[in-house]
Amino acid sequence: MRQAATWKHSNRMPTPIIETSNVHRSYRIGRKSIEVLRGIDLSIQPGEKIFLCGPSGAGKTTLLYTLAGLERPEQGTVSINGTDLYALGRREQARFRNANIGYVFQNYHLLPELTALENVAVPGAIAGIDRSAEAMKALARVGLADRAEHLPAELSGGEQQRVAIARAIVNEPRVLFADEPTGNLDSSNSAEIMRILLDLATEHGVTLVVVTHDQQLAKAGDRTLVIRDGAMHG
Ligand SMILES: Nc1ncnc2c1ncn2[C@@H]1O[C@H](COP(=O)(O)OP(=O)(O)O)[C@@H](O)[C@H]1O
Ligand SMILES: [Mg+2]
Repeated sequence: MRQAATWKHSNRMPTPIIETSNVHRSYRIGRKSIEVLRGIDLSIQPGEKIFLCGPSGAGKTTLLYTLAGLERPEQGTVSINGTDLYALGRREQARFRNANIGYVFQNYHLLPELTALENVAVPGAIAGIDRSAEAMKALARVGLADRAEHLPAELSGGEQQRVAIARAIVNEPRVLFADEPTGNLDSSNSAEIMRILLDLATEHGVTLVVVTHDQQLAKAGDRTLVIRDGAMHG
């Protein structure tokens, strides 16, 4: 009670879980340079469900990679839970990412020769730990416990996406990024994937940042951010 009262009367906002300042990123193709991110300032609070919308080529994937520590910006800073992501050394950064950040890539990115269970255990295996118990739990969480021994080719698109989500949550990250997770799915599979992501955020307080084209799906979030020509709108 006392904690809550103190907090309520302080003027400070809680520490943002994701904060960026003046993030710039450009790509050079031959002699031409295109500026994809032009000074992105973001502040996202713990547990927020954010949808990121914008036309194709607007820089959504580039921004998500940058927020997740997968692509260093040329200028500006990205902080996750108060840690300046790009100020960390390579190994520290990998460890920090592994512990705090889950990422669902645009096209599943499952390893075709590994079973669903093995795919989900990969983030643990990289750290040299047997995570098969946690992997099984994560598979059960997305409703795929009975598909643990299947190879990706033996799963539907929606099921493969659920395996990719299980892999992203196996380390119980604080932040989960998903890049157009329903892009290749029909409407009933899309709705189910969104439900799984939103429930994870609600039940575990995971902060969610989801890229989508679907304005209808985006309504289920707390806030929609729109990126156009490398800048945020609204
Ligand atoms: N590795 C890269 N090399 C060169 N240009 C790139 C690369 N990745 C993305 N781009 C360009 O940056 C722009 C933004 O791409 P992206 O972030 O993938 O947009 P979105 O996800 O919104 O469709 C596009 O014009 C794209 O062609
Ligand atoms: Mg993209």
